[in-house]
Parts: sequence; C-alpha cells; structure tokens
Amino acid sequence: MMHYKIKIFKKKLKGAFAAFSDSSFERKYQRGNSVENDNYYKAAILKNKAEALKEVKRFDVINHCLKSLNRETTYLEIGVRFPEANFDKIKASFKYSVDPGFENALNPVDFKLTSDQFFNQLKKGELLSSDIKFDVIFIDGLHLAHQVDKDIENSLAFLKEDGFIVLHDCNPPTAFHARENQPFSLSPAGKFWNGTTWKGFYKYRLNEKLYSCCVDSDWGIGVISTSKKLYPKPEMVNEFFEYNSMDENRTQQLGLVSFEEFKAMIG
Ligand SMILES: C[S@@+](CC[C@H](N)C(=O)[O-])C[C@H]1O[C@@H](n2cnc3c(N)ncnc32)[C@H](O)[C@@H]1O
Repeated sequence: MMHYKIKIFKKKLKGAFAAFSDSSFERKYQRGNSVENDNYYKAAILKNKAEALKEVKRFDVINHCLKSLNRETTYLEIGVRFPEANFDKIKASFKYSVDPGFENALNPVDFKLTSDQFFNQLKKGELLSSDIKFDVIFIDGLHLAHQVDKDIENSLAFLKEDGFIVLHDCNPPTAFHARENQPFSLSPAGKFWNGTTWKGFYKYRLNEKLYSCCVDSDWGIGVISTSKKLYPKPEMVNEFFEYNSMDENRTQQLGLVSFEEFKAMIG
C-alpha cells in the first residue's frame, strides 16, 4: 500500500515539474510575478493594510455628530447592507434605514427602496412625512459620483439647519480603489471599493454655501454642514475631477482632518 502511494506521489511530482517547464506556464508565472512586484501594486497593498489599521470608524463620527446636538435626534441611513456593521451602533432617538437589498437578500431595513425611490416618495408624502427633517443623514449607498451627487442634493432638502450629512468612502487610497466598476477585483484593491464617491463629495466641497471636511479614517468619512465651519475650501480647484490631482493635493481638496481636529471644529 505504502509503495503504491509513493509511486502515485512520484507521478504527481513529475507532472508538476513537466507543467512548470512548459513555456506557456512559465510565461504566466513570470507575468504574475511581475504584477505582484510592480511598485503601484505593492504600494496599494500597503495602503489597504494601513487603512484597516485606522481605529476611528464611521459610527464614531456619526455618534459624535448626534451627541453634539444635545437633544432628541432623528437619523437616516442610505445603504445599510448588514445593520450590525453600523446602523445598530448608532445612538439616536429615531432611526430609519433605506436599502434596495442588492447585497443582502434578508435586507432588514425600514424602506426596501433605492435612495431615489425613497426621496421621491418622501417628497410626495407617501412615507414618513414630507416635512420631516433629519439631524444626521449617512450616505453609503451606490458609490458612483452621479448617485452620490443626487443623494447629497436630496439629503440637503431634508436636513435640519444644524444637521450633518456624513458620507462613507470619500478618501480612496489609490486609483484602484476609486475605480468605477465594483466587480473588477483583479487589482491590488481586491474587493475594497470606494468608487467615485470622492467626486460627489468634492463637488459639494466647492459649494460656497456649505462647509465640509473629511475625517481621515475608515476610507474617508466626509461631513457636510450648512452651519458649522469645517475645513476651508480647496485653494486650487480640480476642474476636471482628476484622481491624480486629488491625490497630490488630498488634504486641501478633501479637507482631510483627524477625528480630534473634527471634534474641536464641531464642539
Ligand atoms: C457599502 S454597503 C453599506 C454599508 C453600511 N452603511 C455600513 O456602514 O456598514 C452599500 C449598500 O448600498 C446599497 N445600495 C446600492 N445602491 C443603492 C441605491 N441606489 N440606493 C440605496 N442603497 C443602495 C446596497 O444594496 C448595499 O447594501
């Protein structure tokens, strides 16, 4: 029996060596090796790890905003997926959740709708109340600039005067994370996807009537306020919303601040 097993093992070993010496296999191996040793690839892997190590999370920022208001608060989350990751951790008197359920079949939310459907029905008074105003609206639905833009615009119409809009994924560490196609995972960003959220957020950073900043943690936690002075406007405008321009001038363009700096800003 033992002799038979050794024979099979030797045969497999021979096969593996044969495959390795095959030129197409060798070419594929070399190509894979050169990808993994590419400087952009290696830097992105390190940035993935660095982001995961940052301790402040989106719920810390959201809870701080809610607490700063020092009253009964109403919270809305757009894009929930698994409530235990964020929604359940939020401390507000009244909480509402919206998600069409693209990423979690169970989708245990209040409104199983896209954000557009939700706001359209809200405006018509078909759900909740058309004059409802929220203290904090957390936008974390579809991570594409055009949708983030619409979500911010709609949220502004339902935000209390001293309320906050908070957005996840505003600080993509590399262009791979800021790709438009979420399913493309053959990059060093792997399954991490911030999409083009930063562009939607940046558009409102340029709005003269609004204040904004981005807490540098948990992939960039953007905050927009109509009343609290946050990070000053970018000095140099990134007219074409180019990733490299944002990357070279991240602090100014995104208004990057630490959580401590943010807390000092909003009191
Ligand atoms: C990144 S997950 C949300 C994560 C969650 N907010 C958290 O902090 O853990 C994105 C969610 O947005 C939802 N989504 C996708 N498109 C949407 C849309 N147009 N409107 C609202 N939600 C959307 C998806 O179904 C998914 O559950």
